[in-house]
Amino acid sequence: MKAGKILIEASGRLAGCGVEEPGLNAQWLLADAMGVPRLNLLADPDLPVSAAALRKFKKGLALKEQGEPLAYILGWQDFRGLRINVDKRVLVPRPETEELVGLAAEFLKGRRGELAALDYGAGSGAIGFWLAKEFPGLRLTAAEKSARAIACAAGNAEALGLAKRVKFIRTATLTPVRGPFDLIVSNPPYIPTRVIPGLSPEVLSEPKVALDGGGDGLDVARMLVKLSPARLKKGGALLLELGGSQAKNLAAAMPAAVWKETKTFKDLNGIERFVFGRIHG
Ligand SMILES: C[S@@+](CC[C@H](N)C(=O)[O-])C[C@H]1O[C@@H](n2cnc3c(N)ncnc32)[C@H](O)[C@@H]1O
Repeated sequence: MKAGKILIEASGRLAGCGVEEPGLNAQWLLADAMGVPRLNLLADPDLPVSAAALRKFKKGLALKEQGEPLAYILGWQDFRGLRINVDKRVLVPRPETEELVGLAAEFLKGRRGELAALDYGAGSGAIGFWLAKEFPGLRLTAAEKSARAIACAAGNAEALGLAKRVKFIRTATLTPVRGPFDLIVSNPPYIPTRVIPGLSPEVLSEPKVALDGGGDGLDVARMLVKLSPARLKKGGALLLELGGSQAKNLAAAMPAAVWKETKTFKDLNGIERFVFGRIHG
């Protein structure tokens, strides 16, 4: 069978199941099954598909129809050019988090001396590992509550050649984490508990610990606002990714006596998503 014909049929099936971007999902699945770059399929719809590739593709397609995230099926997610291996142990890194690391990099570029950063709630490790690649002198600490997520992140650190540069700490609070850091960056769980049951099956297949931020979604974020200042270098910063109206509310609750500067940033969809706070120094 030819790739183009398979793609048209598969994309129709995925659309019928309500999968977003059905064509793109079908292309990634077929490219992965065939072991070719996705764009080759578009350049040559007459590419023949072997029986083995077709079998693999059909398995992936069935999982996608059942609401499995594409990244779990492929086993990886591109994160600003880094290949991050993912599976059910971790949240799939989101495009907004690619924006978060851009803001983090802007801040770190302005710092002098040896850089130290903490990625809190590291999950797959995408945030910290991207920063470690961007800043070769950066000392990275990755803190995370889930042992399963730490195992996944440790595999990524190995695969990316960063194992010697990252220190992992398993914890559910900042209390045992020693600084000082130039930057504490986090994409904490921030979905209010009551909202979780209504999420899409795709999101619900991700670990609950990565989603559930407590009553108003801000349990972990508030803990970070409270405990970060004692772990930051002079002029160091806390940078968080949040959802909906949370960023403005949290920034407003950061006392000026502690935080010299607080700002929020919109993501590319115009949602006020990121909170930045810098302490005095
Ligand atoms: C939204 S996910 C972010 C994962 C990854 N940093 C990313 O951006 O893709 C939140 C992560 O925080 C972890 N987590 C949840 N509660 C935590 C806590 N109290 N302390 C530390 N980590 C926590 C979860 O296990 C999950 O890996």
